[in-house]
Amino acid sequence: CIAKEQPQLLAGKTITITAGPTREAIDPVRFISNHSSGKMGYALAEAALLLGAKVNLISGPVTIKAPTGVNLINIESAEQLLNESLNYAPRSDAFIGCAAVADYRAATVAAQKMKKQGDELTLTLVKNPDVIAHVANLQQNRPYTVGFAAETQNVANYAKGKLKNKNLDMICANDVSQSDLGFNADNNALTLYWHNEQLELPTNSKTAIALTVIQQLAQRI
Ligand code: CTP
Ligand code: CA
Repeated sequence: CIAKEQPQLLAGKTITITAGPTREAIDPVRFISNHSSGKMGYALAEAALLLGAKVNLISGPVTIKAPTGVNLINIESAEQLLNESLNYAPRSDAFIGCAAVADYRAATVAAQKMKKQGDELTLTLVKNPDVIAHVANLQQNRPYTVGFAAETQNVANYAKGKLKNKNLDMICANDVSQSDLGFNADNNALTLYWHNEQLELPTNSKTAIALTVIQQLAQRI
């Protein structure tokens, strides 16, 4: 049970959080996406609100409701996510990239519904921009930047690599090799990494995990 009255550690702070999947159009009726439910990002938004922050929640398409009081910005594609992130991040004290951004999008989006043709279809995909790396490399008004890393193997090494290579301040590593944790689940277990420190958060509800992540963040901004 999360106590309703939390010390207002984030009073006067603005936190921008990305959540959910992105959708990359193939034609007017089809897209590439992933199973992200948005639950973790929405739980982070709720926790930041509880601690008194002003919260911008930039969200891909999800079925859950945004917490009352957030500024919800709906996006679909990674390119839209990048535009909104670069709009809000420089006006934020912290930026948390929890969205499951599609790594690739279709090189061309068909203007009309594609017709079925041969027995095989090859789609050419091109790499999407790395949203959080753009934010973390802002030259002016760079917010404290927190990433997520969902991994099925070598979790610590991959997460620490992303912390460094993307120029982040903190990363939340998620071992998604167990299907009841992480993607689309109600529970999660994370390891938080900074450049010189780490903290294990054992399995708990996404609500409880989110509160701890936000409390850790609040101590550092
Ligand atoms: N991320 C992003 N833009 C992308 C891809 C990822 O902002 N195009 C962010 C995610 O929101 C997350 C972090 O980068 O905070 C790590 O995402 P992840 O998919 O684990 O890392 P990638 O760099 O895409 O590497 P890979 O998928 O190959 O493991
Ligand atoms: Ca990826």
